[in-house]
Amino acid sequence: MKALNIVPFVSVDNMMKLVLHLGIERVLTELAGYIEADFLRWESFDKTPRIASHSPVGVIELMPTSDGEMYGFKYVNGHPKNTREGLQTVTAFGVLADVDTGYPLLLTEMTILTALRTAAMSALAARHLAPRDARVMAMIGNGAQAEFQALAFKALCGIQEVRLYDIDPAATEKCVRNLSGSGLKVVACRSSEEAIEGAQIITTCTADKQYATILTDNMVGPGVHINAVGGDCPGKTELHRDILLRSTIFVEYPPQTRVEGEIQQLDPDHPVTELWQVIAGKAPGRTSASQITLFDSVGFAIEDFSALRYVHEQLKTLPFSEPLDMIADPDDPRDLYGMLLRAKAKAA
Ligand SMILES: NC(=O)c1ccc[n+]([C@@H]2O[C@H](COP(=O)([O-])OP(=O)(O)OC[C@H]3O[C@@H](n4cnc5c(N)ncnc54)[C@H](O)[C@@H]3O)[C@@H](O)[C@H]2O)c1
Repeated sequence: MKALNIVPFVSVDNMMKLVLHLGIERVLTELAGYIEADFLRWESFDKTPRIASHSPVGVIELMPTSDGEMYGFKYVNGHPKNTREGLQTVTAFGVLADVDTGYPLLLTEMTILTALRTAAMSALAARHLAPRDARVMAMIGNGAQAEFQALAFKALCGIQEVRLYDIDPAATEKCVRNLSGSGLKVVACRSSEEAIEGAQIITTCTADKQYATILTDNMVGPGVHINAVGGDCPGKTELHRDILLRSTIFVEYPPQTRVEGEIQQLDPDHPVTELWQVIAGKAPGRTSASQITLFDSVGFAIEDFSALRYVHEQLKTLPFSEPLDMIADPDDPRDLYGMLLRAKAKAA
């Protein structure tokens, strides 16, 4: 019988080993499969908008959900000013637990896992919404998430060329370097306008705690799919409102996206389609070649649940975790204090 005090812990080191062992494109593809499977049983999940604690410089959020058998949550922050201080904009960790006992099944780093799941989610959405023959993607914002996004679109959507732009040329240089040898044609651009030339998919993935205008209305032509990742907090958006008015808008969970997504700029009853319904064949995705489709991504708890479920499954056969003495386990479940006394006696 497994020791009841032990919870498998996936450190950053082990997460990197897991991803490198399996191969990143395989992980992105399999993660998309797990998200898809969970979106297909959307109605069986407990759903709530994430619980956000805002400060003038950032946000700390908890993202819980359960399918009745397992419960998961992620702790995640978003601090756009952090990179200027040598810190990351987004860090995260998460827990998966057994609903029957309430005992944790897994504790894991989720900074890398969030980048993977966000990219897998974006590409999964694009598979249903982007033009089928899309081969070129513009990638505006070349920070921590960028390479993961590019590789997910290569693996899942057949993207062959990424056109990069960032206000900080050092970020673009880093991205070019990291994607060399990936099989993608990588083009560094000097403006957003140049980056979107010839692109059928536009991904915006910038970090700025304000209503930003990464894309203006005149930049978006017919038939394009926009994957808007960086606008994910009240007062933090990337697209000009007029683009939204011309687009068919797809979202994860409307009660959360109406507060956090691009659509916070619109009336509260502006029509949007829930992505799970498209994936389940209950609502149409792209219906015409000239339609502008917009995935107003904010990141929803079920995606993290899928990612936790994926890692938990991998650990059944792979050695990339370590035992963490995390749950107090007295011999008599009601003698928690006695356990403390015995430890004191032992230490004396
Ligand atoms: N939707 C989701 O599920 C999800 C998940 C993770 C992160 N995010 C969001 O995605 C964004 C990017 O995250 P990250 O970890 O890559 O952040 P990051 O800070 O590492 O990178 C952001 C990049 O955007 C660039 N940038 C800022 N303003 C710009 C502008 N006007 N034009 C072009 N580039 C600009 C910065 O120079 C930086 O290189 C953040 O806003 C984050 O909150 C969303």
